[in-house]
Amino acid sequence: MRFNLILFLFFLSFILANCESQPHRQGEILYQNFCANCHMDDGSGLAGNIPPLAQSDYVRQNQGQLACIIRYGMEGAIVVNGKTYQNPMAGIPQLSEFEIANIVNYINQAWENDYGYLQLKAVREALEKCKQ
Ligand code: HEC
Repeated sequence: MRFNLILFLFFLSFILANCESQPHRQGEILYQNFCANCHMDDGSGLAGNIPPLAQSDYVRQNQGQLACIIRYGMEGAIVVNGKTYQNPMAGIPQLSEFEIANIVNYINQAWENDYGYLQLKAVREALEKCKQ
């Protein structure tokens, strides 16, 4: 009886520890599948051609735009950390609003970014405004 209880507690703590350490797992997998080939695994981008997401002042200052950038892409010159970029980024229309929220929240805490948490509601409202 006591042994069962210990075993139970052991598994419970194992499961809880696992959830705790991977809250951004879906966002990370999606990032790797849809973003990392351009923005790189470490979010550093590609010098001169693709802007960084790691320590990006643009990401920090444009939280309300991120969902729209992911869904519809962007073009035109932008300045990220003092450098100008102007290659168009294609949108990724097949990502759901949940998936977009998870990607943004992964980016917001990856690579020592500390850009807070974006609610699903905010993602939904942003997408409603930039709907094409
Ligand atoms: C085919 C290459 C490519 C892919 C794939 C791609 N991007 Fe981009 N991304 C770019 C380029 C190029 C720009 C610069 C656009 C401009 O100059 O107007 C950019 C700009 C951005 C920006 C704004 C600038 C910055 O770096 O802070 C964000 C945020 C961003 N991308 C996020 C993402 C996310 C999230 C994904 C995956 C869901 C993604 N991108 C997938 C090429 C890509």
